[in-house]
Amino acid sequence: MHEVLLAPSLLACDFGKLKEEIEMINGSDADYFHVDVMDGNFVPNISFGQPVIKFIQKYAKKPLDVHLMIVQPEKYIEAFSDLGADILTVHVEACPHIHRTIAQIKECGAKAGVALNPGTSLATVEEVMEDADLFLIMSVNPGFGGQKFIYNAIPKIRRLKSMLIDVNSHAMIEIDGGVGLHNAEQILKAGTDILVAGTSVFGAENPVEAVNKFKNIKRDTSIL
Ligand code: DX5
Ligand code: ZN
Repeated sequence: MHEVLLAPSLLACDFGKLKEEIEMINGSDADYFHVDVMDGNFVPNISFGQPVIKFIQKYAKKPLDVHLMIVQPEKYIEAFSDLGADILTVHVEACPHIHRTIAQIKECGAKAGVALNPGTSLATVEEVMEDADLFLIMSVNPGFGGQKFIYNAIPKIRRLKSMLIDVNSHAMIEIDGGVGLHNAEQILKAGTDILVAGTSVFGAENPVEAVNKFKNIKRDTSIL
């Protein structure tokens, strides 16, 4: 049995009181701040960029898990790493040279994550299983918070977990999109290490209590 790691997504917070929202998560048992960067090109939405992340970094007391939903992410890796990203995740669909991009992230001192959209096969990352520090399985089509969980992500995670075991990789598995208390146990059982949760944390009546509930889920990996 090991710990459930939780990364609340700030995309779902009240930006009118961003500092208070960050402080609330600082005071909770959450493990990371999930920070969604969207460019209106890779995904049909624009979120926020460097000046906002600089502010987040100033107040955050937990590591920043930065999810880049942008084209040509290699152009910005150094900039986001300098802003204090602990995990920097790029989309494989946006990276024709994913092996090089992973190396570039690691050279900057961040952990390298590779994200896959729901329609993207695990075969696209098979050759970098041993290189990336984390794989992010999207359980919604990226671009917006509050969408419905796509259940194909569960068998995909099971398959990813067994691919990682086969090559003796210790890369973590993260899931993002539509995660809530109703499906978290099932997602964890498939082999997930980190849950991203936006609406189900910031949209809850008591977000700190929601974090605690996620953290208290019994994570039994003996079925793997
Ligand atoms: C979606 C983003 C997610 C989003 C999750 O494109 O990558 O991180 O904030 O939000 P919920 O948990 O509300 O689906
Ligand atoms: Zn995300």
